[in-house]
Amino acid sequence: MKIVINEKHEINKLVSNEIIRLVKSNPKAVLGLATGGTPLGVYEELIKDHQENQTDYSQVITFNLDEYYDLEPTHKESYHTYMNDNLFSKININLDNTHFPDLNNPESYTNLLEQHRVDFQILGVGSNGHIGFNEPGTPFESITHYVTLAESTRKDNARFFNSIDEVPTKAVTMGLNDIIKSKRIVLIAFGANKAQAIKQLVDGAESENWPVTILKRHPYVTLYLDKEAASLL
Ligand code: GLP
Repeated sequence: MKIVINEKHEINKLVSNEIIRLVKSNPKAVLGLATGGTPLGVYEELIKDHQENQTDYSQVITFNLDEYYDLEPTHKESYHTYMNDNLFSKININLDNTHFPDLNNPESYTNLLEQHRVDFQILGVGSNGHIGFNEPGTPFESITHYVTLAESTRKDNARFFNSIDEVPTKAVTMGLNDIIKSKRIVLIAFGANKAQAIKQLVDGAESENWPVTILKRHPYVTLYLDKEAASLL
């Protein structure tokens, strides 16, 4: 596992440059996409590059990690809306090539992922070590499935809603066994509240109590950390 500790803006540049290089060399690249605060800077760099250099996303295929179960896709905090607002509407992606977990048939998403193996997966991490919405205790063999969100996750995400009561309690997420099949994984972590999860990943043993530690099994992972997220290493 390669570890890069750098300033946020440098990390956003490094990760977006890797995605741009991939899309240029393989116009049909399959990208695994994350939501939350962490990847926003990367998406901004992709948009800037698209405006300046017309990098072509018309054939790129995307799979998002997760979606809230009890929000309409048009809700302002749904991950559909997040992706449209923060990336899809600002590049020339074909929305037919963008995918989210099927809220009525989660397993079908795993089948789809088997047909289109993800070339590049971008990940954030929850303060409790979740990836996607795979909360602590999720089996490493899990495929796309329904989840009940941990209270700590609902608290972490309350900043996007008017109050914690509005934060959904359920979601559908790509499973850990889906995520680990990506050819390349880049995990970004910013801030001291991610430091414990990063320490478990780097220095701890594989454990379903810290879902992120499944990445120890993957041959081609890079962690991009700011100083705060790396502070316990
Ligand atoms: C969210 C998402 C994850 C994300 C994580 C961290 O709940 N489901 O995909 O990586 O939690 O979020 P943030 O980047 O806002 O810290």
